[in-house]
Amino acid sequence: MLEQGQLALLVSQSGTRYLRLIVPGEALHTQDGVLSMDAVLAAGYGGVAASHLGRPYRVIRPTLYDLAKGVKRATQIIYPKDIGYIVLKLGIGPGTRVVEAGSGSGSLTLVMAWLVGDQGKVYTFERRAEFSRLCGDNLDRAGVGQRVVRFHHDIADGFVPPGVEATQDDPSGADALFLDVRTPWDYLDQAASVVAPGSPIGFLLPTANQVSDLLAALETSPFEDVEVLEILVRRYKPVAERLRPDDRMVAHTGYLMFARHKGADFIPPEPALAREPGAPAAGAADQTGQTEQSGQPDQEQP
Ligand SMILES: C[S@@+](CC[C@H](N)C(=O)[O-])C[C@H]1O[C@@H](n2cnc3c(N)ncnc32)[C@H](O)[C@@H]1O
Repeated sequence: MLEQGQLALLVSQSGTRYLRLIVPGEALHTQDGVLSMDAVLAAGYGGVAASHLGRPYRVIRPTLYDLAKGVKRATQIIYPKDIGYIVLKLGIGPGTRVVEAGSGSGSLTLVMAWLVGDQGKVYTFERRAEFSRLCGDNLDRAGVGQRVVRFHHDIADGFVPPGVEATQDDPSGADALFLDVRTPWDYLDQAASVVAPGSPIGFLLPTANQVSDLLAALETSPFEDVEVLEILVRRYKPVAERLRPDDRMVAHTGYLMFARHKGADFIPPEPALAREPGAPAAGAADQTGQTEQSGQPDQEQP
């Protein structure tokens, strides 16, 4: 059931889509004429409302995909195809505490806020006040604003702004972190100090030069297990008799990178029992790369 104050996706017969907050008395001016929100409210989700020209609009309950794509934008946003992989890699789910910068228009923030539920928290950082406000508006519109702590703060000064330490807004010990800023290599130390040891971290970078710069910086950082990838989506014309790809595709949005906080450097403990002087420690590799225990060199897993 559609109630006032909820979002609806309004889709015309030609496929034009509008994501709108339904406020009684308001109207939407479309290319098919004026659509009254009272008519949309009366039609409800799954119903059809007609414009003043009699042209029908299907009223649909928006999915998380629609909400992420439908944020009001003043910055470049992260697209659903990338967000899907990001949230899986970062392990975002009910109860997760995740840190992010910059907030931008909040498309990634919105999805993460949706997924963390009421037990989790998203801490989002943005150095420009107007974008931080826009992100907040987009989150409130989707009904998830209360799960997000928004900081108007430059992460060059760290992820724990003055006065936040040890309060419920303190992001310290977070489970995951994502950076969508132009020079993420400048903030690796700040990132390492706000996440719990072993936590995943991710990055979105529009250009290959930035990927190279970040790879170089990660070599001397507290992060390991580095992965670089991009995600391409090819859509098809949904016509049964002439099934083939669309003529055009979005060929590039950004490169994704992931890594993991190293935690304390792992040094295998010496066995408790004394061994012969000069004998190798149990499990230590000899010059052939073999270990006493396995007799096999390490195999790289596919
Ligand atoms: C591409 S936008 C982020 C878009 C966002 N991920 C989304 O999906 O809507 C990058 C944002 O990072 C912010 N930013 C860049 N450097 C920053 C810093 N050092 N601290 C905080 N925010 C920063 C910019 O102001 C900009 O709004």
